[in-house]
Amino acid sequence: MTATTDRNPLHADFYADRARQARVRVLENVRIARDTYRVRFECPEIAAQIVPGQFLMLRLAGMNDPLLGRPLALYDVICDASGVPTAIDVVYLALGKMTKRLAEFGVGSELDIWGPLGNGFPAVKTDQLIVVAGGIGQTPFLAVGKEYLGQRDYGGSRDSQAAAKRVTLCYGVRSADYLAGVDDFRAVGVDVRLSSDDGSVGRRGFVTEVLREVLDQTTGNERLVMCCGPEPMMHAVAKLCDENKTHCLVSLETPMACGIGICFSCVTRVRQADGGWDYKRTCVEGPIFEAEKIDGDCDSILRTKPAAQAKEVRDNLACAAGFSKQARYLFLSALIACERRAFVRAAALA
Ligand SMILES: Cc1cc2nc3c(=O)[nH]c(=O)nc-3n(C[C@H](O)[C@H](O)[C@H](O)COP(=O)(O)OP(=O)(O)OC[C@H]3O[C@@H](n4cnc5c(N)ncnc54)[C@H](O)[C@@H]3O)c2cc1C
Ligand code: FES
Repeated sequence: MTATTDRNPLHADFYADRARQARVRVLENVRIARDTYRVRFECPEIAAQIVPGQFLMLRLAGMNDPLLGRPLALYDVICDASGVPTAIDVVYLALGKMTKRLAEFGVGSELDIWGPLGNGFPAVKTDQLIVVAGGIGQTPFLAVGKEYLGQRDYGGSRDSQAAAKRVTLCYGVRSADYLAGVDDFRAVGVDVRLSSDDGSVGRRGFVTEVLREVLDQTTGNERLVMCCGPEPMMHAVAKLCDENKTHCLVSLETPMACGIGICFSCVTRVRQADGGWDYKRTCVEGPIFEAEKIDGDCDSILRTKPAAQAKEVRDNLACAAGFSKQARYLFLSALIACERRAFVRAAALA
């Protein structure tokens, strides 16, 4: 996953060139666990392109509060009776301003979305794929499980090599009522191992203990770990994988403002081949990174700065990063008006 050298150095391999913007209609918005919902919306073009581990930026149509879109991972692609992708499912925790309002949306409500975004999980062959999730971090892994177990393809022309003899989900939650989508995983044939903070389901304690058991049981096999969840959990999983000489990929949930590589609000420190580190944009060079390359502190600027300072950073980042005032103006206009032509021009100027 290296950046190409024959293009602008700001250009990443997974730049949002193929992203589309659309106003879409909600087909379903159902509660599937405590504070957790699955929203389905009609978007055939993005549904045909998106691959597991990629995400969408999502805004509530016709509302300017919150102004910025929020990144949400692909849960699954829905196809019609003839197998043509027509809709996308996203699973979200009603946590803050946008997701709490989204939870109140009914059938026929409209969303503004742009995607597919990010690099997605690599599609490789392995004996055992172990996916480790904490909290709402299970959302990218249903599609991963389906692809690795050979049940379906994603992304149309993607030349997928994804194959695993076995896929195991290690899933840790606060308590049993937060478990979301477990039946979907089991229906696909994923081996599900659970943990909870209060012991109300699965093993009491951290999900890393469940992972430790799985790693102990499969010594000698070729295996790959993918992980998504709170950052302390991802650090613990990365450390455990390192001790067990097992390759680990992490999907970062860094706060984002644009999702298309323009604003630099999502940068995270990534180790370089020479032993140093550099900032990478989680939205275009991630969100999937090799665990050993992520610096100990992988917080984004938006999260680590106090709120007022973060707002100032967000307001000034585009110009500070060297983009013209025109590009910044066009980008913000596109966000506010969701006007497709301005959005594409802003992206092209970057
Ligand atoms: C690639 C990617 C994929 C994701 N996929 C999913 C998914 O599938 N499902 C899902 O539920 N979530 C997902 N997330 C996380 C989701 O985007 C965030 O939780 C989002 O902030 C929710 O929006 P909100 O308006 O509801 O909450 P917000 O109002 O943005 O706040 C949510 C919480 O985040 C913290 N926070 C946000 N911004 C700041 C800040 N500037 N400073 C300090 N703390 C802050 C606060 O603690 C707050 O309680 C994903 C994130 C990424 C990057
Ligand atoms: S969110 Fe990554 S550059 Fe804007």
